[in-house]
Amino acid sequence: MTKSSINIIPKPTSLKSSGSSFDLLSINGIYIENNSTDEKEIAEIFQNYLRPLKKLKIEHSTHDVKNKINISLNPKHNLKEESYKLKIDDEKSVTLKASSKSGLFYGFQSFRQLCDPDLEKKIKPNNTAIPSCDIIDTPSFSYRGMHLDVSRHFFDIEFVKTYIDMIALHKMNVFHWHLTDDNGWRIEIKKYPLLTEKSAWRVDRRHEPWKEQSPANPEEQATYGGFYTQEEIKDVVAYAKKRNIMIIPEIEMPGHTSEVFAAYPELSCNNKYIPVNPGSYWPNIDIFCAGNDAVFSFLRDVLEEVSLLFPGPYIHIGGDEAEKTNWEKCEKCQNRIKEKNLKNEHELQSWFIKEIEKFILSKNKKLIGWDEILEGGLAKSATVMSWRGFQGGIQSAKSGHDVIMCPVSHCYFDYYQSNPENAPAAAFGGMTTLKTVYSFDPIPKELNSNNSKHILGGQGNLWTEYVQTPKIAQYRVLPRMTALSEVLWSGPKKYTYEDFYLRLQDLQKRFDKLNWTYADGSFEVNINSVQDNQQSPVLVSLSSEHPGKPIYYTTNKDQPDQGSKIFYKNFPITKTTTIKAVIPKPDGTLSAVSKKTFYFHKAMGKTVNYITKYVKKYSGAGEQNLIDGLIGTTNHNDGYWQGWEKINMEILVDLQQSTKVNTIICGFLESHRSWIFLPEIVEISFSSDGERFINKKSYVLEDGEHYSDPNRKEVIFNELNQSARYILIKAVNKEICPNWHAGSGGKAWVFSDEIVIE
Ligand code: ACM
Ligand code: ZN
Repeated sequence: MTKSSINIIPKPTSLKSSGSSFDLLSINGIYIENNSTDEKEIAEIFQNYLRPLKKLKIEHSTHDVKNKINISLNPKHNLKEESYKLKIDDEKSVTLKASSKSGLFYGFQSFRQLCDPDLEKKIKPNNTAIPSCDIIDTPSFSYRGMHLDVSRHFFDIEFVKTYIDMIALHKMNVFHWHLTDDNGWRIEIKKYPLLTEKSAWRVDRRHEPWKEQSPANPEEQATYGGFYTQEEIKDVVAYAKKRNIMIIPEIEMPGHTSEVFAAYPELSCNNKYIPVNPGSYWPNIDIFCAGNDAVFSFLRDVLEEVSLLFPGPYIHIGGDEAEKTNWEKCEKCQNRIKEKNLKNEHELQSWFIKEIEKFILSKNKKLIGWDEILEGGLAKSATVMSWRGFQGGIQSAKSGHDVIMCPVSHCYFDYYQSNPENAPAAAFGGMTTLKTVYSFDPIPKELNSNNSKHILGGQGNLWTEYVQTPKIAQYRVLPRMTALSEVLWSGPKKYTYEDFYLRLQDLQKRFDKLNWTYADGSFEVNINSVQDNQQSPVLVSLSSEHPGKPIYYTTNKDQPDQGSKIFYKNFPITKTTTIKAVIPKPDGTLSAVSKKTFYFHKAMGKTVNYITKYVKKYSGAGEQNLIDGLIGTTNHNDGYWQGWEKINMEILVDLQQSTKVNTIICGFLESHRSWIFLPEIVEISFSSDGERFINKKSYVLEDGEHYSDPNRKEVIFNELNQSARYILIKAVNKEICPNWHAGSGGKAWVFSDEIVIE
């Protein structure tokens, strides 16, 4: 019998440990206090889990007994929904108390994580010791969700159940089932059999990259797809219920619905048959006609059947990314706008959603939708899923609506989790690392305590354009959902990433036994600077997502390896220096080399006063960003760029004493697809007192080739031969996207990464 440490994820609210341990073999039965079916059901979960050790009998007993697992579900424990107390006693008993069945279930999930992972494989472990401890545990957020898109790729019932098992182990309690989308309809609707005969199937183009899949040829057989029968759905709903998981079904509308028109073309604006689409085409303009009453009869019929299948309180109606081009041209849609006195197509969408809301409320259900349902006016009872960022959620919570936070920045698990160059398979564009997920706080600072109670929790989303198989699905979400589960259960920013990471190593052993695939995370060394006025203008800081692993680095341009210097603490530089760094991977090989050049210059470690402020989302390294010696890549999201939206960038560099300046180099980004343009003009001027500015110089820029790949541009002012303490720098924003651009009239951005002063 050996002693084990306690590494539960999500970390319990309170955990006391005596340091001693308890032998599972000393248990000889399970006692339930009230002989209720709920207690019995949980007792059976313990019984099954421990069967490889012993066959334990379940019996009724009104008081705790030694050598037993004592289970009590009783309101008198006065524990909140989902909360529990678990005591593993040196006196050789296990007691689990809760005032809700869900609390008992989560008590089991913690107990499970105390046991040797071999039990996950249903084999007798060599180690039968578990640590003695006393746990009191309660979740921070009531909504802890995971989403799965089964339209872009189809996942069978077996995997859906595994996904639910994954959710349960993490003490999460919502499964958002994205059942319909452009690439396939996945739920049997008895009244509309063509949805599963036709809309569930597409031509098989899995050998082609998602965005390049060629359209169906006329007469070509649609062979890829699938759907769930209503019997299968009932089975999954029951499976989830046993695991305290509510299922939210999503039926998309008015957009992301082109697959419906393979079966019922009359429901689109132009009444046109379209085969179910393999891959993406974007924007997808084939959406439900908002002027056709038949659309609403169809949707009411569909939602009627959906509401009977799913006992939970919510129905998700999508609402995202509905491209309104056809509505602008459609006579029926335009008539509806007139008839209902609506201003535009946004109000038409809002009217659409409110029509559906009436029906959903009549079924005693609640409507939930993506944050686009805010546009044109939010339906009164709606709960909003904020995905495009935090803003939709903030606005909704302020107006008294419930909100689920799932911003792309922290919760999109279809994104890369490490540098795309080193990732094993193509993913969706962005990058959300494990550390980023762990830093997620569902409650933005903009909300006061009154509004923030509307933030019910958060959710991880798995869109499956780039997820072809169950193994890839697991690889994408594990362990990012593990980090999310701790944010949502234990509370955001409660524990350090390092503490979480240590416990994760243990949980991953359990994933191995369960045969669940997971990602190793990012093996990139992050190279950053921290300000330090004492030793040197800036210090170099190296970190990774794998605390405890050595970071090998060089400063002389050599390739780093196990023989290179090991990073222990932040170090100074005194000249322009290229840092290269690696860490070892689990297989013993070294990570790809991270490389960053520090430009040593006269403004480093000095101050920048922001006359106009960058947007918080694009803060780079904060107030030091422009003079920290570090430049960005061509990815505006890489953490080295600051962005100004619709306003000029205007800053005052304070060199703190009169300084001879010869050259100023200003770095800007041009990334047309992200609405980022070069400034029209860059102006500099100098001052000794910060008030009177002289010797203004300007530099006029022109746009590069339209939509060329993102590029970094340096604006260089040479031979200045100027002594000054203050330098005023202004980069003039176009303010709005130019006529040639897809965002014409929309807000234009200026992005800057560094102002080198020499
Ligand atoms: C979404 O990602 N379109 C909700
Ligand atoms: Zn129409």
